[in-house]
Amino acid sequence: MSETGPTPAEVGAALAGVEDPELRRSIVALGMVGDVAIDGGDVRVVIKLTVAGCPLKAEIQKRVGSAVAELGGVERVNVVMDAMTDDERRSLRSGLSGGLGNTSPFVDESSDTVVVAVASGKGGVGKSSVTANLAVTLASQGSSVGLLDADVYGYSIPRMMGVTRQAVMVEDLMMPVDAHGVRLMSIGFMTSDDNPVIWRGPMLHKALTSFVSDTYWDDPDYLLVDLPPGTGDVPLSIAQLLPRASMVIVTTPQLLAQRVARRAAAMAQRVDLPVAGVIENMSWFVAPDTGARYEVFSGGGGAQLADELGVPLLGRIPLEPAVAVAGDAGTPIVVSAPDSDAARALLGIADSLGSALRETAAPTA
Ligand SMILES: Nc1ncnc2c1ncn2[C@@H]1O[C@H](COP(=O)(O)OP(=O)(O)O)[C@@H](O)[C@H]1O
Ligand SMILES: [Mg+2]
Repeated sequence: MSETGPTPAEVGAALAGVEDPELRRSIVALGMVGDVAIDGGDVRVVIKLTVAGCPLKAEIQKRVGSAVAELGGVERVNVVMDAMTDDERRSLRSGLSGGLGNTSPFVDESSDTVVVAVASGKGGVGKSSVTANLAVTLASQGSSVGLLDADVYGYSIPRMMGVTRQAVMVEDLMMPVDAHGVRLMSIGFMTSDDNPVIWRGPMLHKALTSFVSDTYWDDPDYLLVDLPPGTGDVPLSIAQLLPRASMVIVTTPQLLAQRVARRAAAMAQRVDLPVAGVIENMSWFVAPDTGARYEVFSGGGGAQLADELGVPLLGRIPLEPAVAVAGDAGTPIVVSAPDSDAARALLGIADSLGSALRETAAPTA
């Protein structure tokens, strides 16, 4: 036995500094560390996962391995992956907030989370792209951000954020999936593409309730909601579950699109959510060869709609092929090309959104 190995206290401190990627708490505090054996420079650690097939197994193993390996005197680290017993998992679950009695944590007056539901009159205007990019931007600025994909039939957030795995459950609680610093929940984490969801009214409401209430959101600074296009049942459910939400409307510049977007505003009024602003997407195009700027869809629909509603136009985003490429690749444009015109526009919108929300956040009661 070598004299130079780490002490149990050193190993303990190193392990305490390792966070579970989804729960974002120390694995020691979560009760995930089992036996630790130190034999000179050889360290063996048993890690108990919440579920045996945890998709984050490799990531957790890597984090533990490198945290211990960095200690002086460590020559070999053996991280043995095990799973919690039912009792251990129940005890972990009871220490986590959320999911109790199906109540939305965002209804409570004491919740500080700023909830923003992103709506559009029709599909294809870039609502999901805008939502994903705003979420990533806010997270990169140091806010904790959740993104709820409420577009149950046409969900695209998992692909846009580059997530291919399913969500993990701890007992009855769903763990949001972390991507680009944002905590996501989507129906896409529950189903496979070969199993399309055909949910109607009550079941749809139940699913959304569960996404809001039975997900470990952990009091984020922001919760962004990607609504389905149009004015169906979902906005109504969301308004009930997230009564303190503000709405943002995405439109393209065409006057026709703007007329359709007006319906989203009418819907916001019907469900009693304030509209914080309008975002115009696909506003202009810069030819890569000549640098000439084209207003592809003339109209100025975003500004007109904002005027009509008496809310700010939060910004205009150019039509830029890189936005679509980034979305398909699972790395939003604000990450993949932060210097692009589109990314800069999105950054500006994240800023104006902050001030617009402060304006609309005046208490209504
Ligand atoms: N500013 C943009 N420039 C280029 N392509 C865009 C832009 N915004 C969105 N797209 C692309 O347009 C398509 C529709 O966007 P999406 O965000 O899915 O719209 P929605 O959620 O409103 O249906 C996607 O392929 C997306 O990548
Ligand atoms: Mg969409």
